[in-house]
Amino acid sequence: MKKGKEFANRLHALVPKFAYVPQADRFLMDPGPLKYRFNVIGTGVNGQEHITVTLLEGRNTIHGVYDPNPSSVEGAKRAKARFSTEPLVVYESLEAACNDPAVDGLIICTPNHTHLEVLKVAVQSGKHILLEKPMATNLPDAYEIWQMARAYPKVLQIGLQYRYKPIYVEAIHEAKVRRSLGEVKTLTILEHREPFLDKVGQWNKFSKYSGGTLVEKCCHYFDLFNLFAGSRPVSVYASGSQAVNFKDFEYGGERSDILDNAFVIVEYQNGVRANFNLCMFAPMVYEELVICGDEGRLKASEGVNGQAYSKWENYLEVIALPDRTSRTLTPSYPAVIEETGHSGATYYEHLRWTQAMDGQPSTAATAEEGFWSVVVGVAAEESVKRGTKVGVKELLEANGLGHLS
Ligand SMILES: NC(=O)c1ccc[n+]([C@@H]2O[C@H](COP(=O)([O-])OP(=O)(O)OC[C@H]3O[C@@H](n4cnc5c(N)ncnc54)[C@H](O)[C@@H]3O)[C@@H](O)[C@H]2O)c1
Repeated sequence: MKKGKEFANRLHALVPKFAYVPQADRFLMDPGPLKYRFNVIGTGVNGQEHITVTLLEGRNTIHGVYDPNPSSVEGAKRAKARFSTEPLVVYESLEAACNDPAVDGLIICTPNHTHLEVLKVAVQSGKHILLEKPMATNLPDAYEIWQMARAYPKVLQIGLQYRYKPIYVEAIHEAKVRRSLGEVKTLTILEHREPFLDKVGQWNKFSKYSGGTLVEKCCHYFDLFNLFAGSRPVSVYASGSQAVNFKDFEYGGERSDILDNAFVIVEYQNGVRANFNLCMFAPMVYEELVICGDEGRLKASEGVNGQAYSKWENYLEVIALPDRTSRTLTPSYPAVIEETGHSGATYYEHLRWTQAMDGQPSTAATAEEGFWSVVVGVAAEESVKRGTKVGVKELLEANGLGHLS
């Protein structure tokens, strides 16, 4: 049997009820020969999402894992067993997981403060690497990772995959490719959601491990700001507090110190202005983007409020000046892909990673883009502490990175 474009249309292969079809009888459902084997370092909620999307997509597989927490390893085994009868290799050390010659790529999903140290071992392997966001919790570490990536002979991609959520894919196309808004002038993103979830070691409740809320979570939105603005940030002013969540939370004798709400204003070299509104004690999962250009306005949203009859909705509208058509859309991916998490964005991040490994051009986040998303996050955290606007030039200089400004 000859295989062609069918791969792109193999949706049925993603549906578990068709797992019974013998390999010899697979045509539409056959992803073809195995391409790449990956090891996952850190198999909490995010590592398990990477395992699921790899196996669902089907051309690559998860070979093994390394995680010192036994219940995370059990979770990884369950995630692989949903798709494959091949046993999962469990390594005793980071070095062993990174250097197994059977493996082509490493996915690093450990807590933020461990990224640099884990990456230093991973790069010794010379394998392709997908490093989760935020690449680091502070600017010197983020810069070191960027420099490591520049010298690295294989793909080193950063896990800023929100750009592959359906609403942002379409918004990027409208603003950057179709240019339906004219020159982009202002950007607004709002995220209203539930509190940070429990984690192994509760690292996300402490700024010293996560980088702070505006680095840990919001680097995704600052990456989108940087992308839409197409320019470098000049200044950041932020106001925020720990108003509701984890105010009495103590772990290992330490009190949680993370923000649960903030307003952040970013000014760019080219005059674009962006503002971000975060609330993490809202009974919903909701994101909204508004872009105003000199020829139109785009609004997009995704989310659900968790109540009966509320269902997940993606929405996008482009309202143009009267000499052009306007439109509303409901951008989406197949349900089986969107349900894997992050509106399917992680699945498409994996497609881009595979493309890059194949030597094709990729739109995925580079270490340089990862660095600049951390710059805005660190500047915002600093601005909340100081109560004043933070100049990016001054912040870079204070971190020994004045040559970048
Ligand atoms: N791109 C995204 O949308 C997204 C979403 C969630 C999390 N993340 C990122 O993924 C990373 C992990 O987050 P999570 O939510 O899965 O946390 P988690 O606490 O659920 O899982 C982290 C896992 O790493 C393990 N671990 C800790 N130190 C390790 C080490 N040195 N070597 C190997 N394993 C180690 C822990 O035992 C745990 O199982 C973080 O950087 C986080 O910011 C990204």
